[in-house]
Amino acid sequence: MSLNSLSITDPERTIEFEFVRATENAALNSLSWLGRGEKEKADKAACDAIFGVFDLVDICGEVVIGEGIKDNAPGIFLGEHLGTWRAGSPRFEIALDPIDGTTNIAQGLPNSISVMAASEGTAESPHVMRNLPTFYAQKLAYGPEVVSAIAGGMDPLSLDDTVDANLRKVAKALGKRVRDLVVMTLQRPRHADFIRQVRESGAALRLITDGDITAAVSPSLMDSGVDLFYGIGGSPEGILTAAALRSLGGDMLLRMAPRDEAERLEAIKAVGEEEVTRVYKSDELVWGESCIFCATGISDSPLLPGVMLRGKKAITHSILMRAKSRTVRYIRAIHDLEHKTIHLRGEGREQKIA
Ligand code: FBP
Repeated sequence: MSLNSLSITDPERTIEFEFVRATENAALNSLSWLGRGEKEKADKAACDAIFGVFDLVDICGEVVIGEGIKDNAPGIFLGEHLGTWRAGSPRFEIALDPIDGTTNIAQGLPNSISVMAASEGTAESPHVMRNLPTFYAQKLAYGPEVVSAIAGGMDPLSLDDTVDANLRKVAKALGKRVRDLVVMTLQRPRHADFIRQVRESGAALRLITDGDITAAVSPSLMDSGVDLFYGIGGSPEGILTAAALRSLGGDMLLRMAPRDEAERLEAIKAVGEEEVTRVYKSDELVWGESCIFCATGISDSPLLPGVMLRGKKAITHSILMRAKSRTVRYIRAIHDLEHKTIHLRGEGREQKIA
């Protein structure tokens, strides 16, 4: 890392806290929709709060990984601008999911977060996040001990190896038996074969209904109790996961997973066959020195506790990290709802949380 990148004028060091304010406000503003069966209203509330925070922040932010294609929900889409775009403000590429786990919110289930990542391009390399043209990607995510073991000469994990072969490698890296490993995946019919193979290996499974960013980050967190994540899930979620892993020292293997032949051909037309079949690692999905990741829990997940209401106060739990310094901050904030106001774009002004 160059001395220059540690300079106190590095805009990341101050602006990162505005990202936390944004995901905190998104969590607080969407909380009233927890368990009310209205996932689009929850999503809209989160988006409104994120736009509202950045309407007051001097950055030139461009959304390069947005949401919306999944279910035509309200969203913050590709190409949208965040920040004031005042002349001379730092330029960031932004990936975000105002709520990962919208179905969970609607059903009052655990595992929903508000999440953003940002990366400052350079003059030589203005684009620093890969936009994958397929709806889904296949992902295998593991923690720092596995990364170290691979760096030390262990055979790398592979998306083309058997489940058993990958589990043996993870077990070796962690100094555990395969039967002591815990593997997390989304509960989907498309994972039936994977689930069967994990069970045959003797390892334990944790199945989740939705929200694969928290799941894929888990193996890289101390005390999550999860050793490996595998699953086919949203491609944008894969980029957000990669941003987190850049700071945590874990890694992932990701390959596009077209849903059918038509989508495969579309993707080949967009980026070429080699890219569609390529296996990417975290730093090939989000590259360059700069990378901020932050998330706030809405309902409880392996990454973060959800928002807690205590009388007139709301307690939020966020994680904020930067790849340059690898500092990981857990931020517990107590919001006095009788005094706190948030700036919503929809209202164009500060207002109390409803
Ligand atoms: P949203 O909350 O943004 O809708 O995503 C939830 C999610 O579970 C993601 O975490 C995951 O990547 C994707 O959906 C899986 O897609 P599908 O529900 O189509 O299997």
